[in-house]
Amino acid sequence: MKKGITVSHRPQWKTHIGFLLAAIGSAIGLGNIWRFPYLCYKNGGGAFLIPYFLALVVVGIPFMIIEIGLGHKMRGSAPASYARVSTRWEWLGWWQVIFVMFGIQLYYTVVIAWCFYYFLLSFGLSWGADPNNFFFNDFLMISKAPFELGNIRSPILISLAIVWFLNWLIVFRGVEKGLERANKIFMPLLFLLILVLVGWSISLPGSSEGIGVYLKPDFEKLKDIRVWIDAVSQIFFTLSIAFGILITYASYLPKKSQIVKDSVTISVANCSFSLIAGLGVFSVLGYMAHKLSLPIDKVVSKSIGLAFVVFPKAIGMLPAFSQLFGVLFFSCLVIAGLSSSVSILEAFTSSIIDKFHYSRKTVVSVLAVAGFFGSTIFTTQGGLFWLDIVDHFLTQYGLVLGGILECILIGWIYKAYVLREHINSVCQLRLLSWWDYAVKVVIPVTLAVVLVNGFVKEITTPYEGYPWLALILIGRDWVIFTLFFAIIVAARPWKEYQ
Ligand code: ALA
Repeated sequence: MKKGITVSHRPQWKTHIGFLLAAIGSAIGLGNIWRFPYLCYKNGGGAFLIPYFLALVVVGIPFMIIEIGLGHKMRGSAPASYARVSTRWEWLGWWQVIFVMFGIQLYYTVVIAWCFYYFLLSFGLSWGADPNNFFFNDFLMISKAPFELGNIRSPILISLAIVWFLNWLIVFRGVEKGLERANKIFMPLLFLLILVLVGWSISLPGSSEGIGVYLKPDFEKLKDIRVWIDAVSQIFFTLSIAFGILITYASYLPKKSQIVKDSVTISVANCSFSLIAGLGVFSVLGYMAHKLSLPIDKVVSKSIGLAFVVFPKAIGMLPAFSQLFGVLFFSCLVIAGLSSSVSILEAFTSSIIDKFHYSRKTVVSVLAVAGFFGSTIFTTQGGLFWLDIVDHFLTQYGLVLGGILECILIGWIYKAYVLREHINSVCQLRLLSWWDYAVKVVIPVTLAVVLVNGFVKEITTPYEGYPWLALILIGRDWVIFTLFFAIIVAARPWKEYQ
């Protein structure tokens, strides 16, 4: 252990199931319900499952073992754990938690706020007969371009305040009384709700056509590198890897822990949830196509449109209990979103506590207020554009680049076999030497291919036709700014325990 990086008294999960549910809660999020089904549809239906599951086995599970193993060994948040490997790499931990907290978290909470508002609207199906017009013109009052921010939308702002309040409340109460308790309620409830929703959806007329389209393999699509890139970046986002979250969550585990078994359980639970949610989503789309006598490709829409335009429309067309279906669907999104957003807030909170020893209550309160104000940019009339740009750059580049650097640090500097020996010393299930090879070569090379290919596309075509200035502001300047900030925080001394 490096001198100066002192070990604080760490909180612990009260139960093993509490840890598992919190980690699964972090993984299962908005991405599972609206992002996965659409990606699957766009990228060759059932054929997409091949790169998706390959990415899960080759990159996802081994990476999750790195993070849970490292957090368990170092007993610290991402910056503390990296600093204990090498003080020169502390900045990487800060960079990851900073861009996740002041990037992903800021827009993620706004999408949860939309879901919360739609949950309330579901009681009266108040989006009316034209949900597309309602979402873009009445609810978002969307402007014409990113730099036309317009006004803050007060319904979104109020919902956002509620979402940040809930985040604050859960993380403020600490690991056992806050995160563990909340996830012990959230996760069983979410599983129950999704089973009811999927069962209901499958029973609708036309559902089998929808499921057919969702799962029908188009193997031709696998020739396109974009499909493989989508699979790898979705695995990163959906498993919450390279966010600094799992390192932190694992640092609260007891000495004897089943690191390998838990990593497999969390990953498989998350990906099975996505598959099952996809069945429900496509059954509803199949029903809608059937009712409108349209081919299904005319009703499928891009991720955000799927949850806030297509689904409200489909809900309004249900033969019975439409309001109830809407309430259940949007509560699923709110719960899935909250269990992920609290994990992001915890990863940052724990990093600050580790280094500066401020009290949890102060740190969480300051962060919740700062986070709320930071999120307001996404509640403006131009917010959706910025949300799309930030999401694109952070998931396609930030997480992937952070992942490559993390593999270099653990695989080559700390040495993968050292971490493997630690994992094997506490675990019943033994990790074999293939894992070292995955950490040192397979994962970083796969991620580098994803990064380079994405980048080449980026400089040839502006993402979604957005102005270059907006893309440069996020894709370059903001990345440099967070990096600079991370280096400054890393350079500060660690507060010593008296
Ligand atoms: N893993 C979380 C999600 O998929 C962030 O939404």
